[in-house]
Amino acid sequence: MQIIVGAQWGDEGKGKIVDYLSEHADWIVRYQGGNNAGHTVIVGEETFKLHLVPSGICRNKRSILGNGVVLNPIALVNELEALHARGFQTEGRFFISERAHLILHQHLAQDQAEEAGRSQKVGTTGKGIGPAYMAKVARSGVRAGAWQTAELNAEEQAAMQKLRPYLANTEHLLHEALEKGEHILLEGAQGTFLDIDHGTYPFVTSSNCSSGGACTGSGLPPTAVRSVTGILKAYTTRVGNGPFPTELTDDTGTYLQQQGHEFGTTTGRIRRCGWLDLVMANYARRINGITEWAITKLDVLSGLEQIQVCTAYQHQGQTLAGYPSQLQTLENLTPIYTSLPGWSESLAECRQLSDLPANARHYLNFIAEQTHTPIAYVSVGPERNQTLMP
Ligand code: IMP
Ligand code: MG
Repeated sequence: MQIIVGAQWGDEGKGKIVDYLSEHADWIVRYQGGNNAGHTVIVGEETFKLHLVPSGICRNKRSILGNGVVLNPIALVNELEALHARGFQTEGRFFISERAHLILHQHLAQDQAEEAGRSQKVGTTGKGIGPAYMAKVARSGVRAGAWQTAELNAEEQAAMQKLRPYLANTEHLLHEALEKGEHILLEGAQGTFLDIDHGTYPFVTSSNCSSGGACTGSGLPPTAVRSVTGILKAYTTRVGNGPFPTELTDDTGTYLQQQGHEFGTTTGRIRRCGWLDLVMANYARRINGITEWAITKLDVLSGLEQIQVCTAYQHQGQTLAGYPSQLQTLENLTPIYTSLPGWSESLAECRQLSDLPANARHYLNFIAEQTHTPIAYVSVGPERNQTLMP
């Protein structure tokens, strides 16, 4: 069992890496979040934008929405119908945990009302995620398996009727799979710094995105975890509000935004961009138990003369140990940078590590050294074949 987790604020390119790793997996499981997430998977001429269905579906693998997910039945039906229209079969391959909670229309309204009432806006995607989890924790939520006994409106009921064939005791399916020695991939949505406990609270989402959530959100035990792949974008982005120590508000930030096509998949918002932050990477490594990295979007850095990498945080003249818990500290610290030489060549045609310019390899080595973690995958473009394995 392998967990794939975002090491920043989401949008690290997990969808592509999950798709890549799905080839050798028997099951792909989403364990938290809802349709606030967005994955873009590109296969040849086809682009898939997925919000809920695990991207493994594009490989015709068996996939699961685990008990830790919150699902909007109407949005899910739309996504499934779009997949059917493109020739993908989901019946018998896609399963929804009966224990997953539903996002209902009142949660969408509540999400908007709460955001409107906040003095510090979180920048929520407005998909009703927070209120659905609130209802779950308050023990007043509706679980997918109990939809018939709940009072849903007509549209939600019609959607649940369509989803009925997919409902299953997925925890049991996974236990059996584990006992048969099948390979299970657990796919986190969002990222470590949006985790409700370990992220930059309150500018976070309402679930445990980090690897701890993979067990509670799927029913699989921690002792079954064999590896944790951390997805680290070669620079940093954030969509929505909240502290961002290495943010670039100058031309370089705009360069990254444009070269990296950094627009939110779900909301279309421009993503804030900044330098790679290895203080974040090291915290993510420790929180998640990351055993290997997938470095994504390395190609976006082509054309920069010098690349800065944050290696420490200073606050009131002191170098901080660990990741600060207080917003005030995060907003007032000074990132300490190491400057590394850039490269001008495009990386799009690189197919192995030795094809990369020396400075790009140096950049990767610096990440591995500073985080004491090997790099297992490097992505240099959106296509499946633009993934290098050192
Ligand atoms: P919510 O999860 O929609 O309530 O949004 C809370 C915060 O998480 C906002 O800053 C969102 O922009 C951010 N967020 C939620 N989902 C994603 C995602 O999949 N990628 C990046 N940011 C996200
Ligand atoms: Mg995304």
